[in-house]
Amino acid sequence: MNKSTGLPFSATLQQEIKDRFHFVDEDHAGRRRLFFDNAGGSFRLKAAIERHALVDAMPDCSERMHDAALHLQDIEARGAADARLIFNAQGGSVFASHTASGAMFDVIHAVAENVSGNNVVTSVLEHPSSFDAVSYYAEKTGKTLRVAPSNLETGGIDVDAIVALVDKDTCFLSVMYASNISGAKIDIEAVVRRAREVKPDLYIIVDAVQHAPHGVIDLSRTPVDAMNIAPYKFFGCRGSGLTWLSERMARLPHHKLVAKAESVWDLGSAAPAQFAVLTAIVDYVCWLGAQFIESTDRRERFVQGMKRIELHERALLGRLLDGSATVPGLRHIAGVTVHLDYADLSKRDLIVAMSIDHLTPAQAVHEYAQRGVIVYERVQSSLYSKRMLESFGLTGAIRVSPLHCQSFDDVDRFLQITAELTGERAA
Ligand SMILES: Cc1ncc(COP(=O)(O)O)c(C=O)c1O
Repeated sequence: MNKSTGLPFSATLQQEIKDRFHFVDEDHAGRRRLFFDNAGGSFRLKAAIERHALVDAMPDCSERMHDAALHLQDIEARGAADARLIFNAQGGSVFASHTASGAMFDVIHAVAENVSGNNVVTSVLEHPSSFDAVSYYAEKTGKTLRVAPSNLETGGIDVDAIVALVDKDTCFLSVMYASNISGAKIDIEAVVRRAREVKPDLYIIVDAVQHAPHGVIDLSRTPVDAMNIAPYKFFGCRGSGLTWLSERMARLPHHKLVAKAESVWDLGSAAPAQFAVLTAIVDYVCWLGAQFIESTDRRERFVQGMKRIELHERALLGRLLDGSATVPGLRHIAGVTVHLDYADLSKRDLIVAMSIDHLTPAQAVHEYAQRGVIVYERVQSSLYSKRMLESFGLTGAIRVSPLHCQSFDDVDRFLQITAELTGERAA
């Protein structure tokens, strides 16, 4: 197994995987399409959609004592257990929200208002869901906002840059697991270890929305206080965010119904379908893992499945960048610039930020769409990318984000279309 170049799935397994997802090769209207915008909402597992529909079809409220209600309670409990399994978290609380952003605002609110300290630390690459929550509550509580800069070479944030901002008076640190602009992974294990060397009881909050669908997370190695995911970027459904909280985090004062236990963060009626989707996601990754190992342990299978996803995606990333004997990769097509192109692929999720010389990102996205390819432009006029792009000195970029259910053939088709797009200029 080559960790730096990845390892693609066999053709047979690749097809089996593809068959488990909706709309991989065609759009809703049956048109042939390459969907390379999975950082904006990933392909959905058929099983997740089916489970969502079936569980949501039940009229029952889970807070009752009849059979159907008990069944729904069981679905919720299994989903919460699977959320812990994804993070390898023990204890603490799991809570469901409508979006990952909503959960992040709630978490930051609780820490900022209830934990002492005169400064808060975050990074310039954070999604607005955490960056804006951090800056809003820093201002509201009179704390200094400290922002770690990005690294132009890696496309990520250096551990040193984060740790340098932490001191004994830091109220909390909020940092993402991987950038949804460059794909660069942040070394969270080192961040946690070194930041707690400075302040042992530091509250640490991690946005894992981008990274969770692409690699193994292990809170036993990275003990943080809060971590959230968005199932719609993790092969599941929209309208859902799932967050895990440490015991001490869960007990901080927060919005809750007075009579509920101290560590409950859910407000209002639960939506069991959210939890059913999470279990369908974990079932799928475990199925994938079981193609490679004998274990019957759910976490071991899950970890193996995620490792294989990571390796296949790394192989796709290598193919996208360097191509093959028959198709040149993005690094080798004249007129294409790959931004933040760090050589060590093991430090990157499957996201590429690129430009085409004679096209603005918006024009390029349009041209790709005309040819049946969905990619996304990250531009400074967008509140979702301005701060990050500025930190990299970029005015804009095309974001290309395939998923593990896609193959070398899909990447090659993208490369051919890209070559056509650049070639058209000379014609
Ligand atoms: C890294 C990251 N964090 C958080 C979010 C917010 O997720 P949601 O749309 O569920 O609020 C996103 C969404 O794009 C994201 O990419």
